[in-house]
This record gives sequence, C-alpha cells and structure tokens, in this order.
Amino acid sequence: MDKILVHGGQSLSGSVRVSGSKNSALPILAACLLTKEPCIIRQVPDLSDVHYMLQILSHLGAEVERASGTVTVRAENIKSVAPYEIVRKMRASVCVLGPLLGREKEATVSLPGGCVIGDRPIDLHLRGFEALGAAVRVECGNVKVFAAKLKGETINLRGKFGSTVLGTDNIMMAAALAEGVTIIEGAAAEPEVVDLANFLNAMGAKIEGAGTRRIVIEGVAELHGAEHSVIPDRIEAGTFMVAAAIAGTRVTLRRVVPDHLKAVSEALIQAGYGIETSRDTLTVVGNGKPKPLELLTEPYPSFPTDMQAQMCALLSEGEGISVITESIFPQRFMHVSELKRMGAQITLEGASAVIKGVERLSGAPVMASDLRASAALVLAGLRASGVTEVNRVYHIDRGYESIDDKLNGLGAQIERVKV
Ligand code: EPU
Repeated sequence: MDKILVHGGQSLSGSVRVSGSKNSALPILAACLLTKEPCIIRQVPDLSDVHYMLQILSHLGAEVERASGTVTVRAENIKSVAPYEIVRKMRASVCVLGPLLGREKEATVSLPGGCVIGDRPIDLHLRGFEALGAAVRVECGNVKVFAAKLKGETINLRGKFGSTVLGTDNIMMAAALAEGVTIIEGAAAEPEVVDLANFLNAMGAKIEGAGTRRIVIEGVAELHGAEHSVIPDRIEAGTFMVAAAIAGTRVTLRRVVPDHLKAVSEALIQAGYGIETSRDTLTVVGNGKPKPLELLTEPYPSFPTDMQAQMCALLSEGEGISVITESIFPQRFMHVSELKRMGAQITLEGASAVIKGVERLSGAPVMASDLRASAALVLAGLRASGVTEVNRVYHIDRGYESIDDKLNGLGAQIERVKV
C-alpha cells in the first residue's frame, strides 16, 4: 500500500491541466450499455474508480478498449447480473442498474454498502424504477429490478437531503428507453447530470431540462453509438484551487469550466484570494491566510460537499473562527480528527465543524479515510511544518489522476513511497 509524504513549506506557482470528471465518466461509461453499437468516450481520467467501472462493463459482456484517455465500449451482447465481488469496490457501480433495466428490462446488482461518509441508501433510485413500472426485490444482498415494459411517469426524486445525483442519472438512463414521457421533478442539477444527458442525446435520446430541477425524457425505441468528451473535473479543479490558496502565489488551472466553479470561487474571494478567469482557465492569486468563512454544503450550484474537507484544511490555518455545515452527508467529517492530529483546532457540533484558525499546522502521520478526506490531508501538508505522511492513499487514487505529480509540477515536494 503506497503512502504519500508531503514536505511542507514549498510555494506553488505555474499551471496545471485538469482531468476529465470522475463523476461524469462513471455514469457515462455505464450508459454505453444502452446500445449494441460502439461508443467512444474521450477525456476519461485514469483512476481506479474508472478501472472498476470498466471491469464491471467487461464482466457484463461489453468489449472495452482503452488507449490513453479514450475508451471504446461495444456492448453487443450483455448480461444483466453484476455480482458482489465485482461491484463491492465502488458505490457508483449502482449506476449500471438504470441502463441494464432500460435495455434488458431487468438488472440484478449487489447492493452497495454504507461507506465512511454515511449511510448512502438507494431508496430514491428504487422509487424511480418502481414509478416506471419495474418491480424491485432485495434479497441475499442483491437488488433485482425487472419489468415487462417500462412506462413513462412523473417521478419526484427529492429526498431528505435534497436531490440525488446518481439517482437522477439512473432514472434518466432507464427512462430513455421507456414508453412515453417521464418527468423527473426534484432532479439533481449538477454539471455531471448535464454531461450524461448530452451524451444520451448524442445516442438518440430525447432529454430536455438537464441542469434544472425538472427533466423531461421522451422515451425512444433504441439508442445508437456516439462519441463524447467528458467535462473537466470541477472537484479536482476545486481541490487545486484550495491548494493554491493554501500555498500558492499564482496558480492557473487549464481545461476548466469556470462557471462550474462559481461557489468555490466565491468562497475563496470571500476568504481574501484573487480569482481570474478566461473561457477555459482559472487563476488563483495567493494572499496568505484566509479570512474566516461560514459555509454550507448544498446541491449544485451551491457549495459542494465534495469540497468540504479541503476547505476545512484551508480554514484550519485561517484567521478567526470559521463554520462549515454539511447538509448533504452530515457525518462526512472523518478528516477532522486527522487534521486535529496536525494541530488544527476543530470542534464538531452536529453537522457543523467549528474551526479556530491556528498559526501553522505541523506535519504528522495521518490516515486517509475517503477520497476527499485524503485530498484534504495532502493539502494540509503543503503548508504544514515538517513532513505529513498520508497513509492509505489508495483512496486518493480512486478520484485524483496523479495528484502528487500534478502538485509537484506546481512546486510542491511530494513523494510516493511503496510500503
Ligand atoms: N440519498 C438518499 N437516498 C437515495 C440516494 C441518496 O437518501 O436513494 C441521500 C444521500 O444519502 C445523501 C444525499 O441523498 O444524503 C445526496 O446523495 P446523492 O445520491 O446525490 O449522492 P451520489 O449520487 O451517490 C454523487 C457523487 C458523490 C457526491 C454526491 C453529492 C458520484 C459517483 N458520486 O454521489 O461524490 O458527494 O453525488 O454531490 O457521482 C466523491 O466524488 O467523492 C463523491 C462522494
């Protein structure tokens, strides 16, 4: 198992290219199951989660070829059963349910378990499939959905914690091949949902309203092959923005959509940093310690939960007292105890982290617990005194393409050590 050593105190500057979005690529690859024809997906990031998804597609019978960032999927003959051994590694495997149900009218997928960021149920996905006319059975750890035919319906996907991203994706994919019109109310409006809808439309689907809370899908009889480029990863970009705020003088991100980063930009501007944008670049201008912030994570376009841990790292060395509240995953604070081992002064009050800024964190051995928490620990190490040793870095490799090389390219001093 690799570990990462961050030698703190180096200043970051220069530019870095942002990879394709993990959370777009995963459902888009799953959507390739909807057609017998080949699909070509570009800008696919080289991540272990993507690798797991390609394994699942192969297991289901698709032919998968990968050449650098381009993946070709040909799903001529497919099975509709994805067992535990193959899906357990990644919760996002659940997004093969929608395309399998849409095309084969049945799917059996091992149920995803909870994970360190919370319980993560899929009740809203299942409610959506039922509304389309499917029967749902949960037995022996598997969820089986099946229907003689799928029929369009109006479905409200809003849950206790707001909309569901992969739930919206799943229903869009199944409804693309249903009879009649499906209306999703309370839909997730994340850019990744729009990216999937654009790909599905390129395959011949008739989807309108993606990016709003109301998506209308007119079912079609079949979909065809298509080519698509995955959008830039706004969370990877946001993570580099926070790295730049923590330790940068002037850092430019290339291949970004600045519009997708508005909430993160606004937070950093409020904290005292400069943000400059062009059509597809974004520059963060350093300004020392951040001013205190009050942040609330909420569905897009508000501040993303996937950036909460990184902001905790930034504000730990800020001025005054900051408060970050989680409204999406109230238990997503596993990084807090690790940041405290580096000297951060953070108290958890329900779903809020109250952060009293300290002068400087100090390097320590820390343990990554999930993807964004591990990124936060690497970022915290950038300015900390001494060496921060981040263990269990397989978490970070699930969602960041060569984060160590990319940060080193900006001037950081990060080593990856094989243990
Ligand atoms: N929820 C339910 N029932 C459901 C589905 C979700 O109650 O059937 C709840 C969840 O427990 C949570 C909230 O609704 O409280 C939102 O969850 P959502 O379904 O939107 O999450 P997801 O689709 O499973 C995606 C991203 C996550 C990101 C969330 C929220 C992918 C592969 N994952 O998960 O990304 O945090 O949306 O934006 O797209 C990450 O990349 O590190 C990551 C965890």
